[in-house]
Amino acid sequence: MPPNLCPIIFLFFFAMLGLASRVRAVGVNWGTAASHPLPPPVVVELLKSNNITKVKLFDADPLVLQALSGSNIGVIVGIPNSMLKSFNSSKKAAESWVHDNVTRYFSNGGSGVRIEYVAVGDEPFLQSYGEQFHPFVIGAATKIQEALIRANLESKVKVVVPCSYDTFQSESSLPSKGHFRSDLNKTMIQLLKFLSKHRSPFFVTISPFVTLHQNKNISLDFSLFKETAHPHNDSHRTYKNSFDLSYDTVVSALATAGFPNMDIVVAQIGWPTDGATNATPSIAETFMKGLMNHLHSKLGTPLRPRNPPIETYIFSLLDEDQRSITTGNFERHWGIFTFDGQAKYPVDFGLGSKNLVNAQNVEYLPSKWCVVNNNKDLSNATARALEACSVADCTALSPGGSCSNISWPGNISYAFNSYYQQHDQRADSCDFGSLGLITTVDPSVDHCRFSVELRTSQSDSLHGSFFSHWTTWLTATSVFLLRFT
Ligand SMILES: *[C@@H]1O[C@H](CO)[C@@H](O)[C@H](O)[C@H]1NC(C)=O
Ligand SMILES: *[C@@H]1O[C@H](CO)[C@@H](O)[C@H](O)[C@H]1NC(C)=O
Ligand SMILES: *[C@@H]1O[C@H](CO)[C@@H](O)[C@H](O)[C@H]1NC(C)=O
Ligand SMILES: *[C@@H]1O[C@H](CO)[C@@H](O)[C@H](O)[C@H]1NC(C)=O
Ligand SMILES: *[C@@H]1O[C@H](CO)[C@@H](O)[C@H](O)[C@H]1NC(C)=O
Ligand SMILES: *[C@@H]1O[C@H](CO)[C@@H](O)[C@H](O)[C@H]1NC(C)=O
Ligand SMILES: *[C@@H]1O[C@H](CO)[C@@H](O)[C@H](O)[C@H]1NC(C)=O
Ligand SMILES: *[C@@H]1O[C@H](CO)[C@@H](O)[C@H](O)[C@H]1NC(C)=O
Ligand SMILES: *[C@@H]1O[C@H](CO)[C@@H](O)[C@H](O)[C@H]1NC(C)=O
Repeated sequence: MPPNLCPIIFLFFFAMLGLASRVRAVGVNWGTAASHPLPPPVVVELLKSNNITKVKLFDADPLVLQALSGSNIGVIVGIPNSMLKSFNSSKKAAESWVHDNVTRYFSNGGSGVRIEYVAVGDEPFLQSYGEQFHPFVIGAATKIQEALIRANLESKVKVVVPCSYDTFQSESSLPSKGHFRSDLNKTMIQLLKFLSKHRSPFFVTISPFVTLHQNKNISLDFSLFKETAHPHNDSHRTYKNSFDLSYDTVVSALATAGFPNMDIVVAQIGWPTDGATNATPSIAETFMKGLMNHLHSKLGTPLRPRNPPIETYIFSLLDEDQRSITTGNFERHWGIFTFDGQAKYPVDFGLGSKNLVNAQNVEYLPSKWCVVNNNKDLSNATARALEACSVADCTALSPGGSCSNISWPGNISYAFNSYYQQHDQRADSCDFGSLGLITTVDPSVDHCRFSVELRTSQSDSLHGSFFSHWTTWLTATSVFLLRFT
């Protein structure tokens, strides 16, 4: 080899290394708090066809992990908050969790699941939880880490703790004044020491949508990455968007705690499309376009120029009609896809700004809806609808929601239908003191969609579909045989 080529090859090698270490992937959160979740194999196809290469889960559902097997998608498995206490106190519990939910599925490529992280807890420090999980988080993370070491997986699977948007704060919204919530001072130092020792990144939620609603100083344009937005100044640094402002608040909080170089992963970020003002598909599309352009540009933020988050997970993949709405009716509408896997707007996951590919082979219940019978005395209908809404999903009826404009008694019909669909279209779930009426005419108006729920194995049994059960059983059995032969 001519000696003068050596340095060139050398340079090329390091350039490649640099590129490799700068693969800043964008993944999605896949939650399953839905009354009728899409079957996991359908969701995995949805991920693949949209070039989504990373996914964050909230638990370790065997059907989900089986569906992800062989996909080569990078996976974060989650430990629910309710399990933290047992792991803090029991090495054995942590070991059997790791055995059952990591070791059994793990592979680095190949036919298993490419598990990259274990997320210990789901935002356990959320202020609204009080201190119920604080005492167990670090202990649980440590026990899980030790279990991974014993399973010889510690170099492949990292232990992280997803922190909520309210773990960090700043005075007068100045990023340079960022610090962790004062009740978390001690816990955060312990967490950061733990992460740093094991070279794991800091996982944090950034929520420009919630920031917009909580902070009068933040404008919609600033939240949406609009060039025309009025910038915020922090001494000599200029902030052009809400994302950078929050991100640098986290950077300052980490530096104040003594960890200025800790890697950051944005564990959840997104924009809801219903259930509140400013929660619409078109605003969400603008936000996502701005976010994706910002991430793809690799510009970073004023405090970390050219050093963007190492990974970013969009919140969320799908709408979930069973998510808690204590923080707002928008909580059930974070999906970039609807509950049935239909794209709400285009997002660029590295395939360019093409439209997203919808879920294929989605199976619905029959085209039937439940509406209010206008020929009846409707004096009790509102009370009946409110009762239905305590179980069903009526979030689209709330102010600013997609169905907020349909007038009475259309809104009663909406509530009745939601209840009826959630109960698998059982005839007795469209009774409502004989005010309900089953129809085959779609009552949807404009943007207000009266949905038909998905067919699930549970609804199959209600509809007496013996054949479908039989094929599900056959498929499950052949998957089992494939895995164990
Ligand atoms: C967590 O585990 C540690 C170590 O086993 C134990 O000392 C501590 O009391 C536990 N914390 C709680 C709140 O149970
Ligand atoms: C594995 O994870 C699942 C789902 O989160 C959970 O139900 C199960 O208890 C876990 N296994 C062990 C041994 O903890
Ligand atoms: C709003 O902005 C002004 C000027 O930039 C600042 O003085 C004030 O503290 C901010 N208020 C909040 C609540 O952030
Ligand atoms: C937490 O840390 C901040 C800054 O480091 C400090 O101002 C505050 O007093 C601390 N709070 C507690 C409760 O220790
Ligand atoms: C922020 O800084 C820019 C340039 O440094 C300046 O033009 C602008 O007036 C400042 N804005 C505020 C609100 O201070
Ligand atoms: C998928 O996206 C990645 C970047 O995340 C890109 O490198 C890759 O080429 C894309 N795949 C296809 C088929 O375009
Ligand atoms: C409305 O509800 C009340 C109390 O349950 C009942 O007494 C009344 O008969 C109902 N009215 C109609 C029209 O069904
Ligand atoms: C509801 O109606 C008002 C007034 O006609 C309109 O401004 C608003 O955009 C409508 N909202 C929805 C969600 O359709
Ligand atoms: C339907 O609209 C009427 C009149 O605006 C209102 O009183 C009632 O509470 C609404 N019902 C539901 C379930 O939203």
